[in-house]
Amino acid sequence: MKLSLMTLAMLTGVVSPLAVQAQAGAAANEVNLVGRAAPDPAQLPAGPQKDLVLYGQSLATRTYAYIGPEVADPAMRHAGNNLACTSCHQANAAKPFAMPWVGVAATFPQYRGREDDISTVEERVNGCMERSMNGKPLPLGSREMKAFDAYISFMSQGVPVGGTVKGAATLQTKMPNRRADTEAGKGVYAAKCAVCHGPEGQGQRVGKVGDAQGYTFPPLWGPDSFNTGAGMNRVVMATRFIQANMPLGASHDAMQLSVDEAYDVAAHMASQPRPVKANLEADFPARWNKPVDAAFPPYLQGTADQHKYGPFPPLAEKQKQMADKLKAEAAATRSGKAVSR
Ligand code: HEC
Ligand code: HEC
Repeated sequence: MKLSLMTLAMLTGVVSPLAVQAQAGAAANEVNLVGRAAPDPAQLPAGPQKDLVLYGQSLATRTYAYIGPEVADPAMRHAGNNLACTSCHQANAAKPFAMPWVGVAATFPQYRGREDDISTVEERVNGCMERSMNGKPLPLGSREMKAFDAYISFMSQGVPVGGTVKGAATLQTKMPNRRADTEAGKGVYAAKCAVCHGPEGQGQRVGKVGDAQGYTFPPLWGPDSFNTGAGMNRVVMATRFIQANMPLGASHDAMQLSVDEAYDVAAHMASQPRPVKANLEADFPARWNKPVDAAFPPYLQGTADQHKYGPFPPLAEKQKQMADKLKAEAAATRSGKAVSR
């Protein structure tokens, strides 16, 4: 396989000084989000900085009212659905294991496999704009992007650069070693999700279509949901989010679903129609580090069905072997270069 310079650098640890640093000083630099109060923007002294942070918080919690597809000014319609960032990034994006933004400012720029490049926090925000929000990227100099940036930085205060965050991303649950059962998932959905998210996954609007007021209970599929390129459309990712966060009120230390129930209902969700993201084959250009549950071609191993519904552990095992082999090759290439210089 031909490796990009970026991949080579990543494989040999050259582009992730933060992660390396974090390993070295793990305990000292670890911030535990569980039981930690989230920073409160109301405490900031009055002024333009506070205004920007508060605007960022409003954009996150009421995205649909500022940059949604139903807002009055067409130039402000950046998002393509009426979700809020906090439909997924729960509790003002501070909830542990619900992809919290606390500490995110300290971990960017970082290597990201989806781009096979070093990404900034702005690019990460736009990743969710184009996928989770099924919309367009926010212009870099816009007040909205600055506000997201300011809010994410504010939420990250107290987390040192190079630190590790317990409660970051999602709970790393082990997946069942079987194909997910969408029929069983349909049953879980009817029993434990439909009461809020609706029998057809359409959610429940606050008001009526066109009013830009969003949802009391957001849709899980259909035209006003996240698109096929979103992280939540991947079954492993969705299983982890759902088990630690749904039904509403669940948390990583008070889960209401078994991993099997979460896995099957995630597969049911993934089997339903939603907006299609074009050009997905351009994602993860390095290929070998594409997540095993990214169910779009090309595939280096396994069938399309297995990448969508599992079983995932065998795919992960093969991928690890591939990565180890590439790492060894990359290390050899580098030392070879060092010798010839
Ligand atoms: C449908 C669910 C969903 C919505 C809505 C959503 N996101 Fe995300 N977001 C995710 C998931 C899942 C991840 C992490 C997984 C991944 O790498 O794709 C993520 C990751 C992120 C990260 C990186 C977090 C980290 O730990 O590094 C940022 C920043 C982010 N989102 C910003 C936003 C912003 C800003 C919005 C609203 C404009 C938004 N997201 C809306 C699901 C969502
Ligand atoms: C009591 C109401 C309630 C129940 C029951 C419930 N949810 Fe949710 N769900 C919500 C709310 C409200 C949100 C938005 C996040 C928030 O406000 O904390 C949400 C967000 C979500 C999201 C991310 C946002 C989106 O639109 O995609 C997913 C996925 C999800 N729920 C799946 C489920 C699944 C699967 C079940 C059943 C196991 C379930 N939920 C049960 C209320 C509920």
